Amino acid sequence: MHEVNEDSIKLREEVFAYARRRLEYDPAPLDGPQSPEWLQKNAGKTISESGIGGSKALEIFSEVLAPSTISTDHPNYLSFIPSAPTEASKLFDLIVSASAIYGGSWMEGAGAVFAENEVLSWLADEAGLPKGAGGVFVQGGTLGNLSALVAARHSASQKLISAGKPLPTKWKFICSAEAHSSLKSAAAVMDVEIIKAPVDETGHLRGSSVSNALQRAGEGVFAIVATAGTTNFGIVDKIDEIADVAKENQIWFHVDGAYGLAGILSPETKPIFTGIEKADSFIVDPHKWLFAPFDACALIYRSPELARAAHTQHGEYLETLTESGDWNPSDYAYNLTRRPRGLPLWFSLATHGVAAYREGVRKNIELAKQIAEIIRGKSDLELVREPELSVVVFTKKGWTLNDYDSWSAKLLARGEAFVVPSSHQGEPNARFAIVNPRTELSSLKAILESMDEES
Ligand SMILES: Cc1ncc(COP(=O)(O)O)c(C=O)c1O
Repeated sequence: MHEVNEDSIKLREEVFAYARRRLEYDPAPLDGPQSPEWLQKNAGKTISESGIGGSKALEIFSEVLAPSTISTDHPNYLSFIPSAPTEASKLFDLIVSASAIYGGSWMEGAGAVFAENEVLSWLADEAGLPKGAGGVFVQGGTLGNLSALVAARHSASQKLISAGKPLPTKWKFICSAEAHSSLKSAAAVMDVEIIKAPVDETGHLRGSSVSNALQRAGEGVFAIVATAGTTNFGIVDKIDEIADVAKENQIWFHVDGAYGLAGILSPETKPIFTGIEKADSFIVDPHKWLFAPFDACALIYRSPELARAAHTQHGEYLETLTESGDWNPSDYAYNLTRRPRGLPLWFSLATHGVAAYREGVRKNIELAKQIAEIIRGKSDLELVREPELSVVVFTKKGWTLNDYDSWSAKLLARGEAFVVPSSHQGEPNARFAIVNPRTELSSLKAILESMDEES
């Protein structure tokens, strides 16, 4: 299995040929899911004592399994948060896979860790964090938020312990009522209370709401979380106001920018992120809007040593690493073994330069504005909220969830677009999440027009 021989070389060429075909699609077919029964019938039993051979396994993947997955990089994939990795980042992901690099420690992965840290420093700089800020690329925003909150609670408890004060009976953190579900999940994992502060009429969490929540919460609040780009609407909380409340009360300030913080790269939208420079930690997911492949979340701390104190794993076999004083990425999140998943972004950034990223993000925001304007001009469509970044949410008069569902299913079945319905305050709606610089206004218009077929 590990030998380089005639068979492995033949298989290598077949795999490269497949990868080349997939990379050359322009765009890749949208494709779509199949039922377990269909997959069972068409893929058959692939795991056996003797193996089916690489060529056969690749054939099943390319003809049955791959077409049963939606291409998240299709320009008309507009649901959830899509992905739009650059060609350079996808190509480099192949190299990462071929290189067997351990990204958890400096000792084993110094070169890779150095390059990942370059990217993290750049992101910290863009956000205005001081020199010395740093962190790690984790699997996704869910793990990034959890790891930041674990560091925040550890830091709060250490402060109380060193002051000889008792620990609270229940730890708590405050976030927006519209914050991402991963925060609720983090609260459950950490066994802490999540306090959801109400947003204003435009969907923003404001400092006053956080202050009220803080007063009502009593003791034990270890973190305040602002969202820089809510998932459903792309709304950026009033970061500056919230940061001030956190600072006045000496509480850790975390910013969940998993999707939206990439918007800081566009000079037009940068001002709405004011206050991010006061964050104790923040996350932004390159697999969302920084044009990198799955899966990568940049988790950055103002004072990484606080995260290190919370997260370093100790064990006899690890002492050689933990005692070294080196920068070990594993120390900054709830993880140990890790792929150097920041490298595809590093390569693409190094290749194209930051300006190309600013332009990609700016273009998406501009497109969101253009399609919002068109929606505004149609009497049967209504924007649910004004788009702030690149998410546009709207309703069609008289439509029920069934109408949205059947429209969405038809678009996917025709291979035209992937636009699943969302909802707000119990009302179904349609939602475009635009993160792909190759998404075109003409396609978005055609998708809007396809709604008329349903009526
Ligand atoms: C604002 C926000 N935070 C956190 C997450 C979770 O990120 P992930 O899916 O990478 O775990 C998401 C995902 O969409 C998000 O939009």
